[in-house]
Amino acid sequence: MTGLQWWQSAVFYQIYPRSFADGNGDGIGDLPGIIARLDYLADLGIDAIWLSPHYPSPQFDCGYDVADYSGVDPEYGTLDDFKQMLDEVHQRGMRLIIDLVLNHTSDQHSWFLESASSRENPKRDWYIWGDGPPNDWLSTFGDSAWEYDEGTGQYYYHYFFKEQPDLNWRNPEVKAAMFDAVRFWLDMGVDGYRLDAIGTVYEDPAMPAHNTGLTVAELRRRKEEAKTDADRRAARELWDQVFGCQVNQPEVHDLMKELRTLVDEYDDRVLVGETSLIGFYGDGTDELHTVFNFPLMRLERLTAAGIRDNQQERLSALNALARVGWPCNTLGNHDAPRTFSRFGDGENDDALARLSLGLVLTLRGTPFLYNGEEIGMIDLSLDDISQFRDELGIWLYNAARRDLGLPAEAALQLAIDGSRDRCRTPMQWSADANGGFCPSGVRPWLPVHPNHADGVNVADQLNHAGSLLSYYRALLKLRRESPALVGGDYTPLQSDDPDLLVFLRATPEQTCLVALNFSGSAAVLEPDAALPAAGRVLMGTPHRREGDELALAGLTIAPFELLICEM
Ligand code: NOJ
Repeated sequence: MTGLQWWQSAVFYQIYPRSFADGNGDGIGDLPGIIARLDYLADLGIDAIWLSPHYPSPQFDCGYDVADYSGVDPEYGTLDDFKQMLDEVHQRGMRLIIDLVLNHTSDQHSWFLESASSRENPKRDWYIWGDGPPNDWLSTFGDSAWEYDEGTGQYYYHYFFKEQPDLNWRNPEVKAAMFDAVRFWLDMGVDGYRLDAIGTVYEDPAMPAHNTGLTVAELRRRKEEAKTDADRRAARELWDQVFGCQVNQPEVHDLMKELRTLVDEYDDRVLVGETSLIGFYGDGTDELHTVFNFPLMRLERLTAAGIRDNQQERLSALNALARVGWPCNTLGNHDAPRTFSRFGDGENDDALARLSLGLVLTLRGTPFLYNGEEIGMIDLSLDDISQFRDELGIWLYNAARRDLGLPAEAALQLAIDGSRDRCRTPMQWSADANGGFCPSGVRPWLPVHPNHADGVNVADQLNHAGSLLSYYRALLKLRRESPALVGGDYTPLQSDDPDLLVFLRATPEQTCLVALNFSGSAAVLEPDAALPAAGRVLMGTPHRREGDELALAGLTIAPFELLICEM
């Protein structure tokens, strides 16, 4: 594939280790479980894995509370297991990137335990301490961002849970220690990092109050209840007003430049930012390699018009960089509702899931898939607060009762909507008990969705040519074999059509036309000077025959059809 780096042509697959595969039968996913499924991933046709945190952790935030940056959580295995996994990933021609949580550690990390041990401790300044509390800042996962420490009589700052104290990145010792950890895994051979919550690393040193008087429960309620794009924008603006001084401070770009310099000492590694801000590309060469197109994922519905606008905005911003930036598209992850649920309409969910995949695999940029989406896993609504494992859901429930005065049922609904448990349930490998995730009789860490018994599982779908899994495999194969879909330019056509998204992807060697009909009514490809006269079908769901030559102008595109033609 001409001139592209491996991470530009790769399709990434996110593994949430707790839920992916349980090798030792204790109800919790682990690294040996992942190793046993690497052939499955290679056959699926993905090129790279993003592994959510595998580090030792009290698991208060499912591993995003790291207690040791150079180890493996005993629940997940050993360092040797990690090395074996990395080796076996590479043997299969795939790559592995891991999570890097720079903003905060666990409150059980030895750094924090030392820092909290006395005001005079040499690591005191590794975290952010103040008297007061210093201001009215909030934690995005709770109440005040300041937690009182009885032992030393001061408050420490935490943007997320109080179990995740923020590091003080203005202290050079913090950077040195963290960069050592970064090198540790790069030296071992990992192919890069996904940078967690990268915008949260620094805060405004003047620490101005937001003075809105709002609580996070209220902010989250507004977000969940927003019905229109305007409501959603208003809720986001309010959110930004409250948290503006706690995120995206200018110094983070200097840090990213230093990190990039470090990573560039190694061959061929990648930095992917958990942010949608184009500013994190720097000049296109000196900060992150790519960042997620979250605005696409946050569209209320996938509509032709919404996607076109999104592409127009993102691609023109990326093209404006000194060195053109490379996009990265995703529709789901461990923090978001499952794609199948989120973009389904209750009637045409399977067809819409196929369109969603068709979209991320044919837009310009690196696609990230989330484990389980290939079999159409859906959100699980836990019906009892005692089943929740995501502390955010539990906090939301309690805050809704306490701060918003909601009755139990309404509070539960808010918790269901805001909790991330729903998209983190165990991978459904078969129709067996516990979906084949862990042995029957063992209680998995989160319930397995009961629909594993109704065909939403790997084993059943592997045997069916018409299954969603077979479609994923076919489309991943087609993408890999189509240079235009991987590296081609993107040219939108039929720019006013509300339902039909049509675009060309072209490299010097190949031109592809992609048409996605997001509506339940047939649509027509309109004659256009840029529309090629004819194309050969590479894939057309649900009814086209591969290889057929089609005259394109005036062609009818069936409801929910994905059509990919080669010129
Ligand atoms: C973003 C991660 O994706 C999320 O799961 C986590 O809770 C926060 N960052 C804090 O690390």
